[in-house]
This record gives sequence, structure tokens and C-alpha cells, in this order.
Amino acid sequence: MHLSPVGTNRRCFLASSALCAIVLLLIPTLQTPQRQSELPRPLPHTRPVRGENATGYKGAGYSEHSSVSGLPFSNDKSRKDLVSADSISTWSKEPLSLKDIFIAVKTTRKYHKSRLELLFQTWVSKAKEQTFIFTDGDDKELKQKAGGNVINTNCSAAHTRQALCCKMSVEYDKFIESQKRWFCHVDDDNYVILPSLLQLLSSYSHTQDVYLGRPSLDHPIEAPERVRSDGSTSVKFWFATGGAGFCISRGLALKMSPWASLGNFITTAEKIRLPDDCTIGYIIEALLEVPLIHTNLFHSHLENLQRMPSMDILSQVTLSYGGFANRRNVIPVAGAFSLMEDPSRFKTLHCLLYPETEWCLRRSHR
Ligand SMILES: *[C@@H]1O[C@H](CO)[C@@H](O)[C@H](O)[C@H]1NC(C)=O
Ligand SMILES: *[C@@H]1O[C@H](CO)[C@@H](O)[C@H](O)[C@H]1NC(C)=O
Repeated sequence: MHLSPVGTNRRCFLASSALCAIVLLLIPTLQTPQRQSELPRPLPHTRPVRGENATGYKGAGYSEHSSVSGLPFSNDKSRKDLVSADSISTWSKEPLSLKDIFIAVKTTRKYHKSRLELLFQTWVSKAKEQTFIFTDGDDKELKQKAGGNVINTNCSAAHTRQALCCKMSVEYDKFIESQKRWFCHVDDDNYVILPSLLQLLSSYSHTQDVYLGRPSLDHPIEAPERVRSDGSTSVKFWFATGGAGFCISRGLALKMSPWASLGNFITTAEKIRLPDDCTIGYIIEALLEVPLIHTNLFHSHLENLQRMPSMDILSQVTLSYGGFANRRNVIPVAGAFSLMEDPSRFKTLHCLLYPETEWCLRRSHR
């Protein structure tokens, strides 16, 4: 048989493609599953394995992540030895920056003025590039302020389970598209203390399975298992309350894909008939068996915010304020503005965090 140069090249190509395919097929079997009871800990920044890049999953396909491990440390026998003070300082050599975080703010058309304006005036102004507004109606004024970072989900404006799940589904898809390392969801009545958020996330690796938030109950929720079985058995799981905000690492978010991407989130939520934040907890804790890392640094308007010690306020990650029915449920912070001028206390808080802000300076010179 005559071997033309073209034929040889083709054969080489086929052979190397086959080799690649075999290697790819072997990867999942070579891995031992992560010990689920082990919570992710701050880890040293080791060299990514298998050509995975520390920058994330660039080039990895979107809908086929069931085999993406995202766990470069999980089968590392020397893992325990690596977690020492020395290696933690190595880890901090490549610090996380704000641009690595995708912050989703869930809102609705009727709160664009009353709630979002306050956020844009305060913390969002410090994180404009990575904050994305998920709403349900067009608003030219908002579009001018936030440009491409306003996403009309086309979901219903009703405050129903379906509408909320519809928005979460869009948030998830946009995050995956963004290539950022961390997904954080907050509501339109949350103040995000960006330095605290950065500090918290910096102590974990985005390639690990990390789900951080405040449990809304003091016990796990129990629900019929309707995704993997017929609902005759039940599952218990914790979930982070959406109203206080929560964060998910990219590694974990990718694993959620079969139940969360491209509308699958809505299907999953419909099956278990639970709200958006419960569904997130269900996918992560019940289906992926990754435990929620409980943190008290996230806060919703459902808590008694007045009881928070003033000296602890600046070290929290998210804060909130009482709704119309409970106007006085605000954080005890004094400063630039009176309770009348700043009923949410967000402006006062912002001036403590960023005293150089023009409108804060104007206040202090009066
Ligand atoms: C890793 O990321 C860097 C920076 O984004 C990029 O230049 C490089 O090509 C990436 N390497 C691989 C193996 O993907
Ligand atoms: C909502 O609908 C508009 C107009 O049809 C479309 O351009 C936009 O992409 C939709 N948004 C989403 C998140 O699908």
C-alpha cells in the first residue's frame, strides 16, 4: 500500500486522537471520589494537575460536565501535609481579586427605584464590572446605569416559586458563561461588604466543591426524593437562605450542570416543588453530596439585625434591612446619616467603609 505524506499525517492524527480519547476516558476511573464528609479547607495553591489551568475551565464544554472533576486536590495523598502555615502563605501569593467573582443581584421591576438605586449608589459602585442585575422588566434608565450588566430574565414578575426559580436558572447560566471563579447570589436588599467577601472566598479554592451560606433553619429540611426516585423516600439536606446571599465555587457549579443548566434548574425545582434556594441546596447536598459550609457572616432581613454588635458589622459579608413592615430592623450603625435620612443604614455603612466617597466627604464637612 502506498503511503502518501497526506495519508501518514492522517494516520498520525487518527492515532493521536484515539490516544487522547483513551486518556480522557481513563481520567474519571483514575480518580477516587472525594470524601464527602470532609469540608473543603483553605488549601495551598498547588500546580494544577492534568493541564487544568488555575484560571478555571477555559475551553471546557458547557453542558458535558458530568465528568469534569474540578478536584485537583482530592486524590492527592500529600494533601494533609500540604495544609500548613507555609503552604497557606504560598496560596495567598495569587490572591483572589474582585474580578474573579460573579455577583448576581436578584430584583424585580417594581424595586428598580426603591432598592436598586441605593445599591448602585453604595456597594455596587465598587464592583460594577462583576455585578449583574437579574430582573423581569426592561428599564432604560437602569440600562444606562448598568449597561450590559442588566439582564432581563423574561421571567414572570410574580413573587412565586416558579418565577424565582426561573431567575435563578438564568443567573446560573450567565455565571457559567462568565468564566469567573465564584458565583455569589444576593437579593436587592443586601449590602455586600466586598473586602469581607474577598477575604472569605480567598481562603478556599474555586476548584474545590464550596457552597457557603447561612442555613435558614437550625435543622436540615426534609423533602421527598423525586429526582432520583419516585418520592416514596425522603432526603434531608441543608440549604443556604437566598435572602442572606450565598456563594458557590466554579468547580461545584460545573458539577451542578445536569440539574441546573439551560432550564434544567426549573425542571429540578418543579420535581421537588421547593423554592429556588432550597433547590440549590437540594442539588448540592442531596444530589452531589457536598455539605453546605455554614457561615454566620451572611444576613437577611428575617434576622433581628438590631442585635448585631456594632463592632462586628464591618467584618460581615452581607447585611440587610427590614422591609416596609419592619422598618426599624436595621443594623446598629451610627455615622454620616440619621435614621430618617438613611433608614436602611446602607449609606452610613458605605461611608464607614469608603470615607473617601465624594458624597461622604460632603457630609463630614458640614
Ligand atoms: C492558562 O491560562 C493562561 C492565562 O489565562 C493562558 O495564557 C494559558 O494558555 C492557559 N494554559 C492552558 C494549558 O490552558
Ligand atoms: C428576553 O427576551 C429578549 C427579547 O426577546 C431577548 O433578547 C433576551 O435574550 C431574553 N433574555 C433571556 C435571559 O433569555
